Amino acid sequence: MIYRIVFAALAAAISAQPLRSLKTVPVPDVPGLDTYVRDKTTLIALGKAFFWDMQAGSDGRTACATCHFHAGADHRRQNQLSDPNNPFPANFQLTLAQFPFRQLSDPANRNSTVLRDTAMRAGSAGTFQRVFQSLEPGQPAEQGTESLESAAFLLGGLQVRRVTTRNSPSVINAAYYVTGFWDGRAARVFNGFTPAGAAADVPGVQVLRDGQLVREQVRLNNSSLASQGTGPILDHLEMSYAGRSWPQLARKLLSLPPLGLQRVAPDDSVLGRMASIGGRGLQYSYTELIHEAFQPAYWSGGTGQMEENFSLFWGLALQAYQSTLVSNDSPFDRFQEGDAGALTAQQQEGMRLFQTQARCTTCHGGPEFSAASYTNGGNGNGRGGNRAFQRTGVRDAAEDAGSGNGSFKSIGLRNVELTGPYFHNGGQATLDQVVDFYARGGDFANNAIRPFNLTGAQKAAIVAFMRALTDDRVRHERAPFDHPELCLPTGHPESQPGQLIPALVPQFPRGAAENWAGLAEVGASGHAAPLQTFEELLQGIGGDGARVNTMTGACTAPLP
Ligand code: HEC
Ligand code: HEC
Repeated sequence: MIYRIVFAALAAAISAQPLRSLKTVPVPDVPGLDTYVRDKTTLIALGKAFFWDMQAGSDGRTACATCHFHAGADHRRQNQLSDPNNPFPANFQLTLAQFPFRQLSDPANRNSTVLRDTAMRAGSAGTFQRVFQSLEPGQPAEQGTESLESAAFLLGGLQVRRVTTRNSPSVINAAYYVTGFWDGRAARVFNGFTPAGAAADVPGVQVLRDGQLVREQVRLNNSSLASQGTGPILDHLEMSYAGRSWPQLARKLLSLPPLGLQRVAPDDSVLGRMASIGGRGLQYSYTELIHEAFQPAYWSGGTGQMEENFSLFWGLALQAYQSTLVSNDSPFDRFQEGDAGALTAQQQEGMRLFQTQARCTTCHGGPEFSAASYTNGGNGNGRGGNRAFQRTGVRDAAEDAGSGNGSFKSIGLRNVELTGPYFHNGGQATLDQVVDFYARGGDFANNAIRPFNLTGAQKAAIVAFMRALTDDRVRHERAPFDHPELCLPTGHPESQPGQLIPALVPQFPRGAAENWAGLAEVGASGHAAPLQTFEELLQGIGGDGARVNTMTGACTAPLP
């Protein structure tokens, strides 16, 4: 009897949830959030400002959105390569010819001759390698000293921005993951300070009780996005000069107008009502927004307490904002809701193959298309008996162990046509390349993928089905996917191949000059034109205005 119950539970844990509309699934509640938060609407506005504010980075130019601006991901193409183990070309401009990174003479046969292979990753350019020195209230850019240890990010003695060692996943629908990051290291339980969860040794937040400031541990469940958000902001590769602290970051941001460098659309779905009239940034200060959003016991003790608790405010606000980034109105969702015309015949055939011969739903099932979601029984740490984290043979486990033994998150597939390049290494540029990868049983052995034999038309149908997972609100940046203006570093100009140009900033003599692209602010009704795919960017399609986010717009922000 007991055996039968255990067996049934195991079977349930590994069998995929059926596909269905995401409208049927609410973002999980955070029990106990009221202890800290008194106004959820302001919390979301604060989170949106934090997420898009270029002043947050130590250089005064790097936001969370710098790597998550495009359908929640990043489709820049220059200076986006890294590899912790091997040399790679710095400041390289990717073209379609580089993909897939591992090229076989017969893409249908993983044992065919390897024509080319590389362990490099297409990641996201973050910040320059510098050590934090000091900051001036009112100044977005901080003082630092150059550190030149990362020789891979030096070219002819000049520094380029460093690049993450994994591809940036989308933040859209990330609220449905039990744990965050490709390896699940952003914990389900938020401790108020770091991504590491309840096991981490953190001091506790300061709370005012009977006129006394005391320390209290934070333990918020269903909060991997809050855990996650405390990572990149102090990471010296992504946003920070090395050694910057939370109170220092707080001192800077609390002294600056939110989004002070950036235009905000008057009809922004969240921030429009707060936007400065005709100018840049918001009319309210971060201090005012924090006061309105959070319970007084966490800030009324004065500026020192606000600085001490800044990681709590930061994490919870970012989580609240990103929890609104739910894309549940794709043609697939409408089809599931009974609109039989929402999917073409080809897409319906693709959906059938996705669930049968190609076995995609084993790991990309349920309304989130991810075994790592709450609905799919993503277990507490996301690493147990279910398929939340799997070894699919994208790369050799020795290059990146992921959550262990080369396993990575069975990541959601919604809006996937817009989030290339694909996989944790960013090594595939197109969905056709991804389907070929699966059909041949992955690139590296000992993986969980079973090869399948489908015709070209059948594989094309699977790709067509994945294209039906795009929500038009994402494609056109309509609310809730509208956003403030953003300027993006898009690599460094070269006077001749391999020859960078010094930026001539006295404080940073080794810094290379940069290219910047501007994304205009957009309000609730979005753009008429759709987002450009990564493939289109590499092909030069859409630069004439037929697509948006083509990296050709001028940056108008007064960069510090
Ligand atoms: C320099 C680029 C960069 C910046 C800046 C950046 N990220 Fe990311 N983000 C990444 C990369 C790369 C990953 C994947 C890292 C990994 O899994 O090891 C990631 C992962 C994530 C995830 C996890 C998604 C998932 O599938 O689990 C979320 C959520 C996220 N970032 C939000 C943010 C927020 C919030 C900020 C600002 C505090 C931020 N990011 C800043 C590059 C960046
Ligand atoms: C055994 C589990 C498993 C199966 C079966 C599976 N996947 Fe995946 N999928 C994953 C994992 C794990 C990743 C991330 C792997 C990595 O990056 O190393 C992934 C990543 C992807 C990505 C990249 C998404 C992104 O944003 O980078 C796509 C697209 C994808 N899968 C499509 C499919 C399709 C189509 C099928 C069926 C042909 C399929 N998967 C079958 C586990 C699986």
